[in-house]
Amino acid sequence: MHTGPTPVTVIGLGPMGRALVSAFLDARHPVTVWNRTPGKAADLVERGAVAADSVQDAVGAGRLIVVCLIDYEAVRAALAQSPAEWGDRLLVNLTSGEPAQARQMSRWASSRRIGYLDGAILTPTQAIGTPSATVLFSGARDVYEAAREPMGAVGGTAVHLGDEPGRASAYEVALLDIFATSVYGIVHAFALASAEGIAPERFATFATGIGGLLPDMVRRFAQQIQSGHYPGDRSTIASAASGITHAINTCLSHGIGAGMLTAARSVIDRAVADGHGPEGLARLTTVLHESGRP
Ligand SMILES: NC(=O)c1ccc[n+]([C@@H]2O[C@H](COP(=O)([O-])OP(=O)(O)OC[C@H]3O[C@@H](n4cnc5c(N)ncnc54)[C@H](OP(=O)(O)O)[C@@H]3O)[C@@H](O)[C@H]2O)c1
Repeated sequence: MHTGPTPVTVIGLGPMGRALVSAFLDARHPVTVWNRTPGKAADLVERGAVAADSVQDAVGAGRLIVVCLIDYEAVRAALAQSPAEWGDRLLVNLTSGEPAQARQMSRWASSRRIGYLDGAILTPTQAIGTPSATVLFSGARDVYEAAREPMGAVGGTAVHLGDEPGRASAYEVALLDIFATSVYGIVHAFALASAEGIAPERFATFATGIGGLLPDMVRRFAQQIQSGHYPGDRSTIASAASGITHAINTCLSHGIGAGMLTAARSVIDRAVADGHGPEGLARLTTVLHESGRP
C-alpha cells in the first residue's frame, strides 16, 4: 500500500471501532464508516469521516478495510453484504475470536482473493492512537507489510506473528484466560472478604500485593515449562492443595459458590495422585493437558 493517506473503511462503531476511526482521522487518512445500527457516526462525521449507507458502499470507498465487531458471526453477517469483487483491497479483522474462526475467515478471504490479516488488540480503547497500544497480527507477510503504514495510525507496538492466520487469536485467547480468571478471582475474593466482615478498601491494601507477585511468577513459570524442570523450592503443589482447601471451605461456610476453586483443586489433586506433590506449581500445566479428557 502506498505511503501517504490511504482510504480506510472501518466497519463497526462500538467503543473500539470508534477509537480506531479517531486514530485514522488523527493520522489524516480519509475514513469511511459503517455500523449495523445507524446514528452512531455523527461526531465522527463532524470530524471528517464519511458514513456509508451500506457495507457495499463502505467497502467500495476504502483500500484498507478494518472490521471491528462483537464476534466473527457478526463479521460474517456484515461481510456477506460486501461486493463480490474486492480488487486490491485488504481486509484487517480486529474482532476478538477463536483461532479456528480466524483460520476460517482467512479461508473465506482467500476464496475471494482478498488479502487478509487477522489482528488482536491487547489494549483498551484509550490506548489506541498512543504509544501504549499493542496489536498482534497474523496472516501473509506481504499483506502485513502492505497494511503496515496505515495501520501505524493505531500507534504503539504492532507485532506480526507469522503467516498462520490463527496465531494472533491464539495469543489473545490465552491472554484472555489470564484476564478472565483474574477478574473472577478478584470479585470472588471480595465476596469472601466481605462475608468475613473485611471492608473492601482495607482488603484492597493487601490484595494489590498479590498482583505485584505475578510478573516474576509468569517469567519463572515460562522458564520452568520450557525446561521441563519444576523445582518445589519456593512452594509445592502439595502445599497449594492445603491452601486452596481452606479458601473453598470458608467460601462454602458462607454460602459462596466455590466452583472455580474446586475445579483448580481437582487438577491439584490429580497432580498429587500422579506423584507431583513435591514439585512447583508450573507442573500443573502438564497435568492440565490431560484434565479435559475423561
Ligand atoms: N473495547 C475494548 O477495550 C476492546 C479491547 C480489545 C479488543 N476489543 C475487541 O474489539 C471488538 C469490538 O469491541 P467494542 O468494544 O467496539 O464493542 P463490542 O460490543 O464488542 O462490539 C460492538 C460492535 O459490534 C456490532 N455488532 C454486534 N452484533 C452485530 C451483528 N450481528 N452484525 C453486525 N454488527 C454487530 C455493533 O453494532 P451495533 O452498534 O449495531 O450494535 C458494534 O458496531 C470486540 O471483538 C472486542 O473484544 C475491544
